[in-house]
Amino acid sequence: MKTRIGIAVLGLGWMGQAHSRSMLRIPSLFPQRSFDPVLVVCADTEAERRERAVSDFGFQRAVEDWREAINSPDVDAVWVTAPNMLHVPMIEAATAAGKAVFSEKPIGGRPEQAVTAFDAATKAGVTTGVGYNYLWAPLVMHARNMISSGVLGDITHYRGRFLSMYGSDEMGLLTWRFLLDQGGYGATSDILSHSVSIAQYLVGDITEVVGMRNTTIPERPLPTGAASHYGRGKPEDPKGAVENEDFASMLCTFANGATGTFESSRTMVGPESQNAFEVYGTKGALAWNLEKLNELQYYELTDSPNSGYTTIYGGDRFPMHGAYAPGQANAIGFEDLVANEDFSFLDALTTKKSYSPGFREAVDVVSVQQALINSWESRTWEPVIDLAGGNRG
Ligand SMILES: NC(=O)c1ccc[n+]([C@@H]2O[C@H](COP(=O)([O-])OP(=O)(O)OC[C@H]3O[C@@H](n4cnc5c(N)ncnc54)[C@H](O)[C@@H]3O)[C@@H](O)[C@H]2O)c1
Repeated sequence: MKTRIGIAVLGLGWMGQAHSRSMLRIPSLFPQRSFDPVLVVCADTEAERRERAVSDFGFQRAVEDWREAINSPDVDAVWVTAPNMLHVPMIEAATAAGKAVFSEKPIGGRPEQAVTAFDAATKAGVTTGVGYNYLWAPLVMHARNMISSGVLGDITHYRGRFLSMYGSDEMGLLTWRFLLDQGGYGATSDILSHSVSIAQYLVGDITEVVGMRNTTIPERPLPTGAASHYGRGKPEDPKGAVENEDFASMLCTFANGATGTFESSRTMVGPESQNAFEVYGTKGALAWNLEKLNELQYYELTDSPNSGYTTIYGGDRFPMHGAYAPGQANAIGFEDLVANEDFSFLDALTTKKSYSPGFREAVDVVSVQQALINSWESRTWEPVIDLAGGNRG
């Protein structure tokens, strides 16, 4: 007998749809599961999305008011997939109602908001998850296993970057991602957060940072009506100021003594979604790039004249890959990582195992972000101070 887990999804945009599709696929992908997710209710302010929730995704019902969805007695777990400024109120309501909460990253958009969410969940004692989905890429999990088993020797240097073109069109509308009170910070909240979460997962704590920022497209056309972040304006449209950074970079030191460099941009032209890392150790190196999700580059230090990077292709010998395709080099995709995280979160709920990354790990990420923000002001190295004051939840 499987445990029934009633699900509410708050916001049926890109990520709300990705998570909802994951719930639908979990039974066929993971037959060994001990639970069945049930899409009970979707909340969205747009009528067309509510209609799709019921007709295309099979939600039992769709509502306009997200509070009504959270407070439904047949809902056990809440997925927060609305824009950043709604994360904290939704999380506060869900945790107060005693529901487990999975929130998309970065949680809020300003560091203190992730801390508020962590405090609310800790007080309520509910299980939390945060959508750092790249930690669920089979080859990223394999990279972590390689590093922790010592295959690379001592880690000496880490390079992380997330260079995306989603904001590179200067006619792209001034939607929530570009406004401080809606998206929070810019590239650091939206995409550098992914890079930092991967670095912490692979190499460990970051202790100090120094960095810079830039806003390369300082104003954008104002949206009219409901506009997604893909909307485009015209040169003659009225414009408003971009309130957060398009670009951020930093140098850092890890607790284990390794050095690190990070870059993130949402406006560079060229790299379409280059979420990538390189890890260098005394015995070898690894490199991975989301643009080639199914390939891990491995360099082994050897006396052989045939040294050089080799490509490890994804396959069912790596964690969770076999749910999607048997054998080797049969590729998986972006939404498969989302299914991996959703399955693992629901599995943790039913088996009472701990789940990571949760809100605590989200605080680890924003603690680094806060040090970087401090460095923008002070123009010097800044220590990373745990914003949760050592409380691990
Ligand atoms: N993990 C990832 O790879 C990843 C990728 C993209 C976005 N995200 C995160 O997911 C979140 C959502 O981003 P997105 O790109 O899916 O946004 P989106 O704009 O595509 O979707 C947001 C949805 O929320 C709905 N919404 C807005 N206000 C609402 C309200 N008051 N009540 C209910 N619904 C409301 C909108 O109508 C829309 O359907 C963000 O926090 C973002 O950082 C994560």
